[in-house]
Amino acid sequence: MGSITWDRNTGWAGEPYWKEATFYQVYPASFKDSNGDGWGDLPGLISEIDYLEELGVDVIWVSPIFESPQKDMGYDVSDYQKIYEPYGSLENVDTLLREAHRRGMKVILDLVVNHTSQEHEWFRESRSSKTNPKRDWYIWKPARYIDGVRHPPTNWRSYFAGPTWTWDEHTQEYYLHLYAPDQPDLNWENEDCRRAIYDNTMRFWLDRGVDGFRIDTVNKYSKRQDFIDAPVTDANSPHQSAPEMWCNGPRIHEFIREMNDEVLGPYRAVSVGELSNTPNPEQVIPYVSAAARELDMVFEFSVIRLGTGNILGPKYIYQPFPLSRLKTLTEKWQSFVEGTDAWTTAFIENHDNARAVSRFGDTSTPEMWVRSAKTIALWQVTLTGTLFIYQGQEIGMTNMPSSWGIEEYKDVESSGFYAEAVASGDEERVRKTLHGLSLLARDHSRIPFQWDDSPNAGFTAAGATPWMRVHDDYRSLNVARQRGDPASILSFYKSALRLRKQHRELFVFGTFKLVDPEDESIFAYVKRDARGGSGKKAVVVLNMSGEEGRLGPDVTAAMDGDEPRLLVSTRGKEGDAKIKGGKPVMSAWEGRVYVNYE
Ligand code: GLC
Ligand code: CA
Repeated sequence: MGSITWDRNTGWAGEPYWKEATFYQVYPASFKDSNGDGWGDLPGLISEIDYLEELGVDVIWVSPIFESPQKDMGYDVSDYQKIYEPYGSLENVDTLLREAHRRGMKVILDLVVNHTSQEHEWFRESRSSKTNPKRDWYIWKPARYIDGVRHPPTNWRSYFAGPTWTWDEHTQEYYLHLYAPDQPDLNWENEDCRRAIYDNTMRFWLDRGVDGFRIDTVNKYSKRQDFIDAPVTDANSPHQSAPEMWCNGPRIHEFIREMNDEVLGPYRAVSVGELSNTPNPEQVIPYVSAAARELDMVFEFSVIRLGTGNILGPKYIYQPFPLSRLKTLTEKWQSFVEGTDAWTTAFIENHDNARAVSRFGDTSTPEMWVRSAKTIALWQVTLTGTLFIYQGQEIGMTNMPSSWGIEEYKDVESSGFYAEAVASGDEERVRKTLHGLSLLARDHSRIPFQWDDSPNAGFTAAGATPWMRVHDDYRSLNVARQRGDPASILSFYKSALRLRKQHRELFVFGTFKLVDPEDESIFAYVKRDARGGSGKKAVVVLNMSGEEGRLGPDVTAAMDGDEPRLLVSTRGKEGDAKIKGGKPVMSAWEGRVYVNYE
């Protein structure tokens, strides 16, 4: 069993189970293919539940598996109640739920209800005529004519580059889409539309036994209703960043409260919302304060977006950042819940970001790769909030090789930004965009999972063609190789996840305080038991550099004079865990935790 004394259903000290649960995100197209068509599927996922249990996973989050033309990998749903055939069937979902529940694990699905696919029946009806009863379920606006030339209703830029409006010849109006033209935004102002979302998508799956949802784009349902231009911030583009027009809009809390009171609450379903463009704690708290009855928790993206440019602008022009920035942002999003009834999350990978070890660690040698992946693991498992791991993170999967060309990038966002750069005719911009994509593209986390050293990494049959290319390094970087090796990244994750629960009052529920915020190599912080009054403390010291012998902070001082005891080092017994004048002498990319108790 992955968890030790903790009961997955009752949790700890009256806290809901999901606070200390370890969530694991499965990107189903790339996890495990059972039938050799090169596309991962539900039978494949079901066949690997034991692997997840062995790792210590409590809740599986499955990215969208619904019927979809796959313009945005299923984040464009054309039927909420059907399974995209290559993923399998409704019966497979039932089996997945049964197999998970039998093991005391839970399953959440991805709820994508800011928009549908343009192939959804609702949109087909909506676009059929201006008088169709579902016309108002989407956001339609007349054109603007400037000097007789047709223009979209506003100048907003969409996520995948280009405008947020597409002209519909048939009814002679524009429809709004914050993402691709294939993803028209639903109109949450329309009450029938909201009821349909609750019934058709949410209750349908909850009635089938799903335990909750990761809620896509949760803060974009309420848009400002004046539909005006955003200020021009990019003079070279007709399309402007405009999140203030459609994010955290005037009725957002009303909508989410309604969704909770009518659906999530009655089913006791767990919810984690995707909360982008909201870098102020005062704006985040209302979503996740328990008293507000909105969401259990959200993902805030300041840390994971480090290195990217403005996501509604030059996102893929790489922005280097110092370690101190990573540290202060971590502290900000750890400590903002202290003294409140709100809850936070910890995560460093998902399907929308490149691999953590390639971005925050060191992949220059196999040795540094192992060490830095473990140090990143130790960072994550000692963070307060609910922990989310993304498939492959636990074996230290890396970005696609830098030698791969743009043809290996399949994501609609990557293609959008690349095409935009090419269209600009600016070679420097093309070069920089390619560079940025090689570091940050969403594609890096979407390549096939590396199970073993057989052809296609055991993701799919040997002769099959996987939908994305398998990483060149799969023979040395795979589950099979790490499973039996106590020194592997995978083994470290397993023990670190157990350790997290054994010391839950510090790691899951503790307060967070940086030590030496300005140090650009050592990332150190103190976790304190804020609740039980046990006086327990932990000092986490991470050498986020390849420098041997870096000194950490004075651990005794950081513990207010208490005697430190080494709880764990990422180097295990290899690390001699030396201390010099009260300061730990850290090897390259080593992480350690000290505690003040036996
Ligand atoms: C979310 C998803 C992302 C998708 C977008 C549009 O950000 O995580 O993958 O492209 O929503 O649905
Ligand atoms: Ca398949």
